[in-house]
Amino acid sequence: MSVIAINELKKRFTNGEVEEEILKGINLELQPREITALVGASGSGKSTLLTIAAGLQPSSEGSIVFNGQDLTQMNSEEIRKIRAKDFGFVFQSSHLVPFLTVEEQLYLMLEVAGKHLSKVELQKEVRELLQRVGMEHRKNAYPSSLSGGERQRVAIARAIVHRPKILFADEPTASLDSLKSKDVMKLIRELTTSFNITTLIVTHDREMLDYVDNIITMKDGFIQSN
Ligand SMILES: Nc1ncnc2c1ncn2[C@@H]1O[C@H](COP(=O)(O)OP(=O)(O)OP(=O)(O)O)[C@@H](O)[C@H]1O
Ligand SMILES: [Mg+2]
Repeated sequence: MSVIAINELKKRFTNGEVEEEILKGINLELQPREITALVGASGSGKSTLLTIAAGLQPSSEGSIVFNGQDLTQMNSEEIRKIRAKDFGFVFQSSHLVPFLTVEEQLYLMLEVAGKHLSKVELQKEVRELLQRVGMEHRKNAYPSSLSGGERQRVAIARAIVHRPKILFADEPTASLDSLKSKDVMKLIRELTTSFNITTLIVTHDREMLDYVDNIITMKDGFIQSN
């Protein structure tokens, strides 16, 4: 059973008088514990597809079935709840809150997700995950004192601390050097499997594809058959 099924998805934008179709009928299913990579030229529609699948912007046509429900039929409050509880996000820039420590970033996310755990349980979850991503020793540090790779590790921990079903990652390694990129990608691989997540990742970096299960190539709003 797929975790999410995207059917005949279309997206049109209107620029002035001109309407442009950016996604032209996308079909895609993501399977549990698999990483699917979206690759393709700049402007081919990768980020648009990822953000629509994640409920961050509406589609023009088609359906997105998650947990037996069609996201395209939901109101914004229903989508917000699913995003907070079941989805995790990582982007090119870590987007950490500058005035929160590493562990506070994770507590904040748990609060947003509405996880009702005791203080002791919360602390255990956060500490264990930080250990897992190799950042426990920096739990009291602020983002400004972390390296780019460390920030991305914290961003990944924050994205999955509430145990989402799906991790959406748009070029999570684009601001890192090759060695750090591989470390981050290995981490995403490990966590996807052991935390039972399903991951959709956009990447330009061919080296990252060694760590994924499926590669989907986009071209001009279509999926190119491999
Ligand atoms: N809100 C918007 N309004 C109008 N056009 C948009 C909007 N968002 C995206 N587009 C256009 O849709 C096309 C696809 O954009 P998208 O960001 O999905 O590409 P991408 O494959 O992620 O590219 P990149 O690899 O450069 O990140 C582009 O031509 C872009 O200009
Ligand atoms: Mg993009």
